[in-house]
Amino acid sequence: MTSVAVLYRARAYDTPQDPFADGTPAPGFRYDDDLGLAVSSEGVITARGPFATVAAAHPDAAVIDLRAGILLPGLVDTHVHFPQVRVIGALGMPLLEWLERCALPEEQHLADPAYAATIAGEFVAGLVAAGTTTSLVFGSHFAPAVDALFTEAARFGLRVTSGLVVSDRMLPDPLLTTPERAHAEAVALASRWHGRGRARYAVTPRFSLSASDAVLAACAAVVADVEGAFFTSHVNENLTEVATVHGQFPHRTDYVDTYDQHGLLGPRSVLAHNVHPLDGELAVLAARGTSVAHCPSSNSALGSGLFRLRRHVDAGVRVALGCDVGAGTGFSLFKEGLQAYFVQRLLGDAGLPLAPGHLLHLSTSAGAAALGLADVVGDLSVGKEMDAICLRPPAGTALDIGLRHAGSPEEALGKIFALAGDADVADVWVAGEQIASGGFLRPVGAGPVVRRSRAARRTSSTRG
Ligand code: GUN
Ligand code: ZN
Repeated sequence: MTSVAVLYRARAYDTPQDPFADGTPAPGFRYDDDLGLAVSSEGVITARGPFATVAAAHPDAAVIDLRAGILLPGLVDTHVHFPQVRVIGALGMPLLEWLERCALPEEQHLADPAYAATIAGEFVAGLVAAGTTTSLVFGSHFAPAVDALFTEAARFGLRVTSGLVVSDRMLPDPLLTTPERAHAEAVALASRWHGRGRARYAVTPRFSLSASDAVLAACAAVVADVEGAFFTSHVNENLTEVATVHGQFPHRTDYVDTYDQHGLLGPRSVLAHNVHPLDGELAVLAARGTSVAHCPSSNSALGSGLFRLRRHVDAGVRVALGCDVGAGTGFSLFKEGLQAYFVQRLLGDAGLPLAPGHLLHLSTSAGAAALGLADVVGDLSVGKEMDAICLRPPAGTALDIGLRHAGSPEEALGKIFALAGDADVADVWVAGEQIASGGFLRPVGAGPVVRRSRAARRTSSTRG
């Protein structure tokens, strides 16, 4: 029998209905001014409704009053690179030059397990501080580093899907593997982590440009060997990259086909970017139920292009958001939501106008659906696990003032996407366990002990 552990009282937003779907009424989100959420000791939402009603039905439950802030579902990031925390902010280069000069030199340092453990600490802290409770994480080329990531994510109980990144060409030698080793190391990692706690395995060739047919075939073998494994990679990000891939795979129809011919695309597959898709590629992605991780700050920072959201939606391709750290400019999905909105504005008539409800959906329930977790998280409905964040902007900030003077819930949600950042994410819960409190991180089971503040994280910037 489940017992109600806690009753949360809050002003809350979520998107149980897809605002992109025909028939979803405006404004495309659900808002409750005085919501009651009863949460069981297992972290499952067992009742929701007006606070007075839920409280009357649970007279003995402890009440946590969050009305000073705004409660949202935990944010879901469908594309973020674990080894790239320290290269965020290198501006001025297109994709292939940025990889060569910034990302790949740093990624080689993760061959050192001690360094990898330090980066895992910084990376997971970055996710929690941003309010990201579920993520599909591009791992490392080194298996012990992937172990370090899963270990650190488990300390906070985060929902992380990740895996070994594999490549056998076009990258620096230390980052290359063989098809045999790629298969063996991935299966070994999956046997340690897939399905353990909230961890799941993602088969991860870096991109077809650096993965031959032999490595892609090895990836397909891992997908076959690991029941329920995810698949993730990059696609159609940059025009030079796309032209190179077409040249490398003359026997394939297009970039999407380089994965599809190996059977790698299905409903548990997520491809990042897709800034330059062909109509035929969109049709294949839709037919496979494969999702696209839209990474707007990265696409702008690298000058990759303007994401054609309308073409994806019209083709029936599922889209969610990714911050794509470190080409992306930070962990916050509020920033990605705002950048997604900007891009659609800049596309003019070709753009898909986005309202605040779309942005909340893209950064929560759309991501949960892309990651096969639509029944578990993504909104605050009865039966879902209570993954949530509470925003409490510091007094006197533009967001604090804006929220106090907003004329409607939709206006307030627009202000959140325009103005919110890590400093506003006060509390974070995963399955009812609080892992950040007042902006301080708190590993699961650590009780009220404060581990490390934002200020402390800012100073721990040296390697090793
Ligand atoms: N394509 C292959 N690797 C990467 C990466 O690390 N970042 C981005 N943005 N695109 C990639
Ligand atoms: Zn990426």
